[in-house]
Amino acid sequence: MATIFSGVQPSGMITLGNYLGAIKHFVEYQDEHQCYYCIVNQHAITVPQDPVKLRENSRNLAALYLAVGLDPEKVVLFIQSEVPEHAQLAWIMQTLAYVGELERMTQFKDKSQGRGESIPAGLLTYPPLMAADILLYKTDYVPVGEDQKQHIEITRDLAQRFNNRYHEVFVLPEIRTPKVGARIMSLQEPTKKMSKSDPNQNGFISLLDDPKEIVKKVKRAQTDSDNRIAFDKENKPGISNLMSIYSLCSGQSVEEIQAAYEGKGYGQFKSDLAELVVSLIEPIQARYRELVGSDYLDQVLDAGALKARETASRTLREVEAAMGLSRR
Ligand code: TYM
Repeated sequence: MATIFSGVQPSGMITLGNYLGAIKHFVEYQDEHQCYYCIVNQHAITVPQDPVKLRENSRNLAALYLAVGLDPEKVVLFIQSEVPEHAQLAWIMQTLAYVGELERMTQFKDKSQGRGESIPAGLLTYPPLMAADILLYKTDYVPVGEDQKQHIEITRDLAQRFNNRYHEVFVLPEIRTPKVGARIMSLQEPTKKMSKSDPNQNGFISLLDDPKEIVKKVKRAQTDSDNRIAFDKENKPGISNLMSIYSLCSGQSVEEIQAAYEGKGYGQFKSDLAELVVSLIEPIQARYRELVGSDYLDQVLDAGALKARETASRTLREVEAAMGLSRR
């Protein structure tokens, strides 16, 4: 049985990209492996957050995790800040990380742009916190979308550096990205990643969007003018992205989809896709609405934090002993 860890930021909307690139796959691991799934609220505060919204978004994400099919009997579901070992190990990871390597991270470069002197230090030290998340559980596999690749690489580097300098405490985790959907693109600019921070609301679908809104967004999605359903990321990025989404929602391969739509146009394809996305999301929304205000959700999160702490504190003790931070 392997150990799986992944996390999602509770920063507002959870998009179809988050779901198809990561969360959907969390569910697939739960029967076979020991899974830890985290609501990474301490990562979210690397940019300013409204406290009321942050609390609400964390709860919403917990409800969504359950609504998509995660079973708290099988997985450990918890909020990062409720397991203080994350911040404790993050500090240690910061002492191992080099400023140079942190400054080279693409996410840091993107998010710090134009901030002059006022770049929050937490934006720079985001990766050591993420490394701490993963390493505390001696994780074998981290299911994430493609945009997290660099973060997993630096996690491995930090783990290796620690193991070499002290002794072999950490497992070197491996990334697991899906074959299709590792990078769902914006519906409006299909050469850019679908992102919840896109100012153009038509660029992304939120798991909590109204079904009518979802239909409109799919129908408005950018495609080229040749009206042929063919998978070609280079020359036809818009329709290729929609085909990936179709494939993930229907379970059909892109080749099967291409064959099924031979001679049909974008109009038909988009209205079928809209129907598929709605039929995927509607039941999730119904379960979400039942869960979000329930006491059950709190019980799940309380139990999850306790369970996570058992493992996390054991690893932290090993780390501290190896470094001479403990008296014995
Ligand atoms: P976050 O919250 O930005 O995204 C959550 C997950 O969704 C994936 N994702 C996508 N996949 C495909 N297409 C897209 N357009 C798309 N947009 C997002 C992300 O790759 C991610 O898997 N740093 C992480 C959170 C984190 C974490 C961790 C992840 C903190 N600690 C430890 C794994 C392990 C992040 O900001 O994800």
